[in-house]
Amino acid sequence: SRAYSPNFFLAAVDLAREVRRCDNAWITPGLIECHTHLVFGGDRAREFEMRLQGKSYEEIARAGGGIVSTVAATRAASREELVASAAKRLAGLTREGVTTVEIKSGYGLDLENEIKMLEAAGELAARGDVRVKRAFLGLHALPPEFKDDRAAYVQLVADVMIPAIAAAGLAEAVDAFCENIGFTAEEVDYVFSSALENGLAVKLHAEQLSNQNGAALAARYQALSADHLEHLDDAGIAAMAASGTVAVLLPGAFYFLRETQLPPIAKLRAAGVHMAVASDCNPGTSPMTSPLAALNMACTLFRLTPEEALAGITREGARALGILDDVGTLEVGKVCDLAVWDVKSPAELSYWLGAPLLRERVFAGRVV
Ligand code: NIG
Ligand code: FE
Repeated sequence: SRAYSPNFFLAAVDLAREVRRCDNAWITPGLIECHTHLVFGGDRAREFEMRLQGKSYEEIARAGGGIVSTVAATRAASREELVASAAKRLAGLTREGVTTVEIKSGYGLDLENEIKMLEAAGELAARGDVRVKRAFLGLHALPPEFKDDRAAYVQLVADVMIPAIAAAGLAEAVDAFCENIGFTAEEVDYVFSSALENGLAVKLHAEQLSNQNGAALAARYQALSADHLEHLDDAGIAAMAASGTVAVLLPGAFYFLRETQLPPIAKLRAAGVHMAVASDCNPGTSPMTSPLAALNMACTLFRLTPEEALAGITREGARALGILDDVGTLEVGKVCDLAVWDVKSPAELSYWLGAPLLRERVFAGRVV
């Protein structure tokens, strides 16, 4: 209360346009989801059942399911339908305090449908209660019409799609899936040079299912982040530490795929690599719209401390998106994005699963 306040608080109260009481609440920066695939058509519940019956994610992908099946559903959907289905998932994020969300394309895999996805992602910000950052994920899977000509697709992404998307201002970054069921480091390299030439940042799905030396490649391009990293080796860790590339940990995908190989958390920590945490919300490997569940999994599955997990979905999420100067911490001069929580300690944000902890969300200085 005013009577007990030091002078700086009195000054703040006097300067504020509006004063709200948050008795006994904890206030954190608004949460930052730095890795999602929120926009897509259809769902893959059937594949979830197939995995439970013993099929692996790779087997399903090689048999024409996986990402490519979501591509068919996404191509068949109108932009309005994509906005409507993604808005429901976005509501799951915002009701747990998210104020910034990164959304990837990658289920269109031709220029028209990639643009449709990126425009749909942009429209989610139109209501003015969440900030959206977009990543063009052209190298997500090989589209069926190019199945006999990988090189032609990679060239199309690098030489046609990236310049068009950059010129239209539809994305801030280029992402890729570097994996034996995705794209080789060499293919990613070619596409990353186009990204840089066109003024876009890069980031990478790296070392999720196998070690492709993707993180080291990403680091060579000063990537904002390398994401997943279950199979990251020591050379990859050293490269990320040297380039300041953020490690984005996605325990939801680890959980849903029932992976056993953990990302090298202790080594990343020891090397001083910044670690972000995100839901990876997507129809295949992480059908999860709860950032707080991601925090819980980051602690229980990956052994992050609750403090690291919270930093991972605020400060480090902002760093992974290249927007730490504006958001991600509570500091004078930054945008006022806040989450107000009904908790007695911040560790509770990682501790509860499914509890309604958010009291209030503030986006750009406005309660929303
Ligand atoms: O982050 N691995 C590639 N991308 C997603 C999965 C996409 C999908 O299966 O639809 C991921 O895990
Ligand atoms: Fe992903």
